[in-house]
This record gives sequence, structure tokens and C-alpha cells, in this order.
Amino acid sequence: MTELRVPARSVAPDDPVPEVKNVVLVMSGKGGVGKSTVATNLALALTRMGTRVGLLDADIYGPSIPTMLGIAGQPTSDGKKIRPLERFGVKLMSIGFLLEDPKSAVVWRGPMLHGALLQFLKDVDWGALDFLLLDLPPGTGDVALTLSQKVHASGAVIVTTPQEVALQDVYKSVSMCHKVGIPVLGVVENESYFVCSGCSMRHELFGSGGGQRVAEFAGAPLLGQIPLHPSVREWGDAGTPIVEAAPGSETARAFVSVAEALFDRLLAQEDPGVLSIDRSGGKNRHLPITR
Ligand SMILES: Nc1ncnc2c1ncn2[C@@H]1O[C@H](COP(=O)(O)OP(=O)(O)O)[C@@H](O)[C@H]1O
Ligand SMILES: [Mg+2]
Ligand SMILES: [Zn+2]
Repeated sequence: MTELRVPARSVAPDDPVPEVKNVVLVMSGKGGVGKSTVATNLALALTRMGTRVGLLDADIYGPSIPTMLGIAGQPTSDGKKIRPLERFGVKLMSIGFLLEDPKSAVVWRGPMLHGALLQFLKDVDWGALDFLLLDLPPGTGDVALTLSQKVHASGAVIVTTPQEVALQDVYKSVSMCHKVGIPVLGVVENESYFVCSGCSMRHELFGSGGGQRVAEFAGAPLLGQIPLHPSVREWGDAGTPIVEAAPGSETARAFVSVAEALFDRLLAQEDPGVLSIDRSGGKNRHLPITR
């Protein structure tokens, strides 16, 4: 087997996770569009490609990683660092692991929230990783801002669904990224279509073209389209994401091809010449920022 060459971000001297080659934010202005579903399945797809992956459930208000990966329990500590839990080869940390009652709400706000996030980066023993994926809460304006100040992320994966009502909020998270200098790596359109068992046709229940429009707005590629399929939710609820549970299924393969497109995009981005070129003919008001 030839070794996979993994791209790497540049790391500042005060970076909280210097041994992590890529920090990827999974975000969307909107809740319920499938951020956690995409984050977990991407994590597994990247692991299956042979890379070392960590997943940080940064959705402090609605942690769903413990359920989606079927894992509970208290992380232990060596007195200095918290040891992440591990499932399907992915290192995991979630506020959900630290709550005594998973149904109880976390009432932290503002500075506490940001402090907790930074702690999860800094004080967890992630070790050397190729990818650390962050599953962000919806409406992530200030979380994205905080993160952008603390860690030089490789960039963001924006998750959307096709319908117009979802798009407005998603545009906001894209422009937030542009403003704080987080490169948008690409867009994932979730719940794109439904393959009908009656007529085997693709039904676009929520319309079409939404992901593409967000991608154009972001000046980034559409990394892929994920079908709407009951098995995605079923496996998510059962604690084994579909990429692990049914890797040969059409839906799992859609996630794998998103992971591959993301990998390629990171490789391309690593070339310092790539991001600074404005290919929009001046249409992009915010030029991607190179640091
Ligand atoms: N492609 C899909 N097909 C079917 N159900 C999905 C799909 N994507 C997400 N879901 C389900 O929709 C719900 C919301 O997804 P989730 O990933 O929790 O969204 P978010 O993290 O953006 O709030 C979950 O129950 C999940 O299993
Ligand atoms: Mg979520
Ligand atoms: Zn049909």
C-alpha cells in the first residue's frame, strides 16, 4: 500500500492543536440540516481512507455525537490532559460525555462557551491527527469568530439542504467565514434527492440547485450531494453511521466521495498559489485570504 500524502495547514506558535494537520469546521447557519450526520460520516470515511481522525462535538447546546456514534462514558484524565474516547477508530470528545444527565440543558453562554471550546481543543489529548473535524452548533457566528482567533483552521465545510428557506441562513455562515478569514473548503448538499422504491426515479423533494447556489456564493466547490434516505436516520439513531454500517450503499458512497473531494480540495489549497487566485473575474467581493 502506498502511503497517502496528507495535506497540512500552517500552524502558529500558540496553536492549541499543533500536531493536527487539518482542522475542519463543519457548519451551517441552520439547525437540522445534517451537520452532525455529515461530520460523523465524513470522519468515518476519512478513517477508512487510512487517515487518523478526531471528531469534536462543538455543539455544546445540542451534542449529538454520543448518540450517533453509540458511545457514552466519562473520559479519563492523566491529571494533565483529558483522554478522548474512541469509536470505530475515531477519537471523540463531546460535552455530552461530561453531562450527568444527557437530557439536561447546558446553560452556558458567551465566554464560558468559548472557554469550553478552547479547552476541548487544548486540554484533550488528541495526539497526532490528520484531521480534526469540529461539529459546530447552528448559527455559529461567534463560535466561528472565536475559533478563527484561536486556531488556524484549514477551513469550513458548509452543510445545506436544497430548499430556499434553508439557504438564507446558510449564506450568512458563508459570509461569516469570509469576514473572519476562514476558507470555505466546499459545500455539501444534504437531503438532495430521494430514490423512490416505487419507480426508481430520483425525486427532488426539497427542490434542486440550492447546494450549487451556496457553492457559487462561497466561491467554493460543491463537494457532493447526499440522498435523503431513512437508513441515514436509522443508523444515526442506532449509533453506527451509515458509512460504517452499510459502506456499499449509495448513500455511504455519496459520503465517501465527499470525503475524497474534501481531501483533494485540501491538497489543492496547500499550494500557496491556489487560494490567492480570484477565478470569478472580480465577482468575489471577499477574496479568499491567504495567511
Ligand atoms: N440524508 C439524510 N437522510 C435521512 N435522514 C437524515 C439525513 N441527514 C440527516 N438526517 C436526519 O435528520 C436529523 C437531523 O440531522 P443532524 O445531523 O442531527 O442535523 P444538525 O446537526 O444539522 O442539527 C437526524 O435525525 C438525522 O438522522
Ligand atoms: Mg448537530
Ligand atoms: Zn416514484
